[in-house]
Amino acid sequence: MKVLFASSEVWPLIKTGGLGDVAYSLPHALQQQGIDIRIVLPAYQDVLKKLKSFTILGWLTLELAAKEYSVRILQTEHEKFSLPIWLLDCPALFDRAGNPYTHPEGYDWFDNAERFALFSLAVARLAMDDLNLDWKPEIVHSNDWQTGLVSAFLDHEIDRPKRVFTIHNLAYGGYFSQQEFQRLQLPPQWWSSEGIEFYGNMSMIKAGIIYSDQITTVSPSYAKEICTPEFGYGLAGVLSHRRYKLTGILNGIDPEVWNPRTDPLLPYHYSAKQIYPGKQKNKQALLEANGIEVTKKHLAAPLLGMVSRLVEQKGVDMIIEAIPQLLETSDANFIFIGTGHPSIEAQLLELQRHHPQRVMVSIEYSEAKAHLLEAGCDLFMMPSRFEPCGLNQLYSLRYATLPIVHRTGGLADTVVDAELKNATGFVFDSATTKALVNTIQRALHLFSHKKRWNQLQRNAMQQDFSWSKSALKYMQLYQ
Ligand code: ADP
Ligand code: GLC
Repeated sequence: MKVLFASSEVWPLIKTGGLGDVAYSLPHALQQQGIDIRIVLPAYQDVLKKLKSFTILGWLTLELAAKEYSVRILQTEHEKFSLPIWLLDCPALFDRAGNPYTHPEGYDWFDNAERFALFSLAVARLAMDDLNLDWKPEIVHSNDWQTGLVSAFLDHEIDRPKRVFTIHNLAYGGYFSQQEFQRLQLPPQWWSSEGIEFYGNMSMIKAGIIYSDQITTVSPSYAKEICTPEFGYGLAGVLSHRRYKLTGILNGIDPEVWNPRTDPLLPYHYSAKQIYPGKQKNKQALLEANGIEVTKKHLAAPLLGMVSRLVEQKGVDMIIEAIPQLLETSDANFIFIGTGHPSIEAQLLELQRHHPQRVMVSIEYSEAKAHLLEAGCDLFMMPSRFEPCGLNQLYSLRYATLPIVHRTGGLADTVVDAELKNATGFVFDSATTKALVNTIQRALHLFSHKKRWNQLQRNAMQQDFSWSKSALKYMQLYQ
């Protein structure tokens, strides 16, 4: 079976969040099941910089916004990939540094609708083998709003591949104005409530939902949640009418990239059989790397961490609100790495300024620091208001860093509360600061009961969140 897998980010070439991880690890897991799969993404400047060489597969002429784009399709290899990578090379739209969606100053690129409409159009033409490569997929699998139009562009083709669309986060809908729709000269018949029109605007994620043969999302719980008004972002009705083609399939993780026994980004290694002293040495290294003069007291005190995009979804504001009382009533210390909303960044830095020995904050994106944080902390905080799947709680489980999570989406599907059998972490029901504080206190209490604590850590490390089970589910869906 041949599958063309389209994503706007693919680790390690370009990544802003979990989509990048999944767009790398899922295709590889599918390849191991015998699928002939190719990944396609835009040739952003940062991606081209990471490549040693490429070949030109061909040129496509694409019409959009009353222009004729002549774009190159490149094929490249990379030591981390065992499958071909295809790139849409259109310098006018993608030869820009940094984040794939935003200007260096933080705002969305003014022409994002055009950029991702052109990307989607190119994917659709590749799926129809317009380059005459004698490689036509049976399935085209697109991901999130940036590729939502792929399925729409294929709609009028009789001999088209089946279209699978995965929702990684319904909160990002790819909304653009009707003028933009007209300016791009998209097919007028799309403009309907049964098409991509959404309360007077266009929604690219809605296009993916409407025009695809199958929709998936990244956990069973989130598949149910998005059919309700609370989590549906206005699309609950559209989605619940399409329940028959909506499946929740839990994300997996790459067990090689996130493996505390071999992780090249860790100074010390450990395993479920022997968690200590390796984990504790990483804790010391992490504290030292953050400029702390590490004492015995520091090492004995619980260390709570977070790696995150700093946005409302993730509930960081609740943590910020909780920290002053937790500092007063416990010996816990806190460490953060993330980037995002300027006011959240500023509040975290302010906490660090007031408590330099107990709150550590890095406002940056660093994979090396994220790995060390996962290994060096005792607890990981993820009080997300909603979480389609979440990968960080899975990395935390594997690193014996017990997750504290709100019972929502993929967090509910992957963490078992300390009061239950086979416990792996701490789960709370309502997204409030009070519930978060209570749960952190519960976790801190258990931290002093070392035998039980170590049992939870072993349980956590023994969980299998590799792709094997979920890749089979995608295979069944494709078939
Ligand atoms: P989301 O995709 O909503 O951001 P996930 O938990 O699925 O949430 O995935 C987030 C991914 O991004 C993880 O791999 C996490 O380690 C990574 N990440 C987020 N922020 C940073 C950061 N500041 N530095 C390094 N990695 C980060
Ligand atoms: C999104 C979601 C996250 C999920 C990731 C990968 O960014 O916010 O929960 O894990 O996509 O599917």
